Amino acid sequence: MTGLAQRKGAEFVNDGILSTIGNTPLVRLARLFADAPFHVFAKLENFNPCGSIKDRTALHMLEAAMKSGQVQSGTTIIESSSGNLGIGLAQICLYHKLPFICVVDPKTTSQNLDILRAYGARVDLVREPDPVTGEFLQARLNRVRALRKAIANSYWPDQYSNPNNPGAHELTMSEIVEQLGRAPDYLVCATSTCGTLRGCSDFIRHGGHATSIIAVDAVGSAIFGQAPKKRLIPGHGAAIVPRLFEAGLATRAVYVTDRDCVIGCRRALHDEALLVGGSSGAIVSAVQKISHEIRPGSSCVLIFSDRGERYLDTIFSDEWVRIHLTEAAVKSNTSLREELLQDAS
Ligand SMILES: Cc1ncc(COP(=O)(O)O)c(C=O)c1O
Repeated sequence: MTGLAQRKGAEFVNDGILSTIGNTPLVRLARLFADAPFHVFAKLENFNPCGSIKDRTALHMLEAAMKSGQVQSGTTIIESSSGNLGIGLAQICLYHKLPFICVVDPKTTSQNLDILRAYGARVDLVREPDPVTGEFLQARLNRVRALRKAIANSYWPDQYSNPNNPGAHELTMSEIVEQLGRAPDYLVCATSTCGTLRGCSDFIRHGGHATSIIAVDAVGSAIFGQAPKKRLIPGHGAAIVPRLFEAGLATRAVYVTDRDCVIGCRRALHDEALLVGGSSGAIVSAVQKISHEIRPGSSCVLIFSDRGERYLDTIFSDEWVRIHLTEAAVKSNTSLREELLQDAS
């Protein structure tokens, strides 16, 4: 009998779309690392209603601000985001009839802009990078500050420093422990604001669990002290060290390239029929890289942060990968798919 067939009766009826945020499935991945002597599970955050782990962050930050009175009827929510968080906030703001301004930059995909507008967000485009740092992130944050000054009744969740960002992920980790029946031996998560890393790490430390935490970051991200470098795949990595970051949150960091992300995403699709986003592919490649260090018999939980549909024009487009990520352009008669899968094995 399938899970769907068992789902009968009023106790399974949710109360409004926001009640479907969180409680995502944890699934065993028996094929992706079939030869490995450890057990792999994925927390599928792509099951959130707007498709990513950021739905949790958005809900937790806004609910806390509503509870404290910082957000009331008519308050304009302003946030800088080029993707998942903005979309999550847009849905919640629409549900609660709160005006929302999402500050984006030219790197935001047209698909994300369309989704934001469909959910009623006002999109505010920053066209030039910050003249001092050369970064769009800084320029977007400057724009948020200017908008906040101009709009009297406004609130900035500020995912880079809001404690309710990690707070949301203490619950993510608690769900994992409950679903697995114990704390995993390894937790592998991608990093950007470090909300996921910090929330999971806080839960693990406060609970006295012995879980090793593997943080997966992009080559060229500044979080763990590398020099910032151009990256193509959004989601994980940051051009600044986020205020939520603290030394010691992760047992170790593993760096992955954009090409590693593509390989990991294609492997997840090929082996498990899972269409997931770039940071999930990054995690798959990171586990592959360090698989010899993972203790036999141990359990590894990988957090898959978002769905793959928003990457069809990039990660899952052979043409895009050829143009941007293949050094030797098109090689012999080997198809790109085969080549990437060979690289991964
Ligand atoms: C797809 C994806 N993966 C991973 C992350 C990293 O999460 P965090 O900001 O909690 O570090 C993000 C953050 O935006 C994301 O969008």
